[in-house]
Amino acid sequence: MRITFFAAKSYDKESFNKIKDRYPELTLEYWETELSPKTASYVKDSEAVCAFVSSDVGAETIRVLHEQGVKLVLMRCAGFNNVDLEAATKYGIKVMRVPGYSPEAVAEHAMALAMSVNRHIHKAYLRVRENNFSLQGLVGVNFYGKTAGIIGTGKIGAAMAKICHGFGMNVIAYDMYQNPDLDFVKYVELDELLAISDLISLHCPLMDNTYHMINLETINKMKDGVILINTSRGGLIKTDDLIKGIRERKFFGVGLDVYEEETKNVFENREDDILDHSTTSRLLSFPNVIVTSHQGFFTEEALGAISETTMNNAIAFLKGETAGTELN
Ligand code: NAI
Repeated sequence: MRITFFAAKSYDKESFNKIKDRYPELTLEYWETELSPKTASYVKDSEAVCAFVSSDVGAETIRVLHEQGVKLVLMRCAGFNNVDLEAATKYGIKVMRVPGYSPEAVAEHAMALAMSVNRHIHKAYLRVRENNFSLQGLVGVNFYGKTAGIIGTGKIGAAMAKICHGFGMNVIAYDMYQNPDLDFVKYVELDELLAISDLISLHCPLMDNTYHMINLETINKMKDGVILINTSRGGLIKTDDLIKGIRERKFFGVGLDVYEEETKNVFENREDDILDHSTTSRLLSFPNVIVTSHQGFFTEEALGAISETTMNNAIAFLKGETAGTELN
């Protein structure tokens, strides 16, 4: 079976090529271009395509892929909010994903963002490079003894809860389902979490009922001086409201690995472009905001697990077996 990869970067090729000899049934074809209805029309002789978080796997793309004879969409990521599953099912296209490749990778990045905004590492780094050894404006807070509020305690949220616990924080959480592994966590209602957390980290998926869950109303319920971290999906936060909250000095710091409007930017070098996204530019203008480009997953361990699971998904599909990673 031939698999056409979209938005394939050098690190994707490297991690898949490392293991491809173990899968003689599969031929891999890497395309740098992103998946969209237009690029989908160029797929030939491929029963499967492999896409990522920034790919457009909406209804129109699915329809075109179906026309081109595609039967399988392999998402090489956990999130699938960019996939129209209803359309895929309608056209008999199976969608599979990599549900958990390294929750620790994302959780460690969430803590890295929290530590960076707390201790102003982004400013300190630049300052010292310019021989400026002043500490003015770099004061942070101890995380030890403070309260971490984790929203969503699935795989990544649980890993983040454990890291916060290791820092000596009181860990509270909000989720509809309590994770039995987290006996040190106190589950509370969302409003209570917002009101008492010093650090809030988002780890729930983007769905209709979580879209813009962080908005002016929920921001107003937060403690002044809170640190907010989002490594989940940009749509969880209403960016205009976040900007209002930042301007009202609600936040000590904000760390975003994901943000609304990221799709055009993600994994692209746009240093010579004038960004036409006003909210992204505004976010980048604040001294207490750090934005990274959806790199939470980006560790050697996670890339290895992604390629392994994706190849195993393809093999399961070929054999007509169930891998447990099917989305439809
Ligand atoms: P998971 O499915 O293991 O856990 C999600 C948890 O959120 C579940 O416990 C679920 O009950 C809970 N949840 C659902 N709706 C909720 C709500 N309204 N309020 C509170 N909790 C709710 O997912 P996992 O693997 O922990 O991933 C979480 C998210 O992280 C993914 O949906 C994805 O968007 C994001 N992600 C980001 C990456 C990055 O590179 N930045 C990489 C991988 C995932």
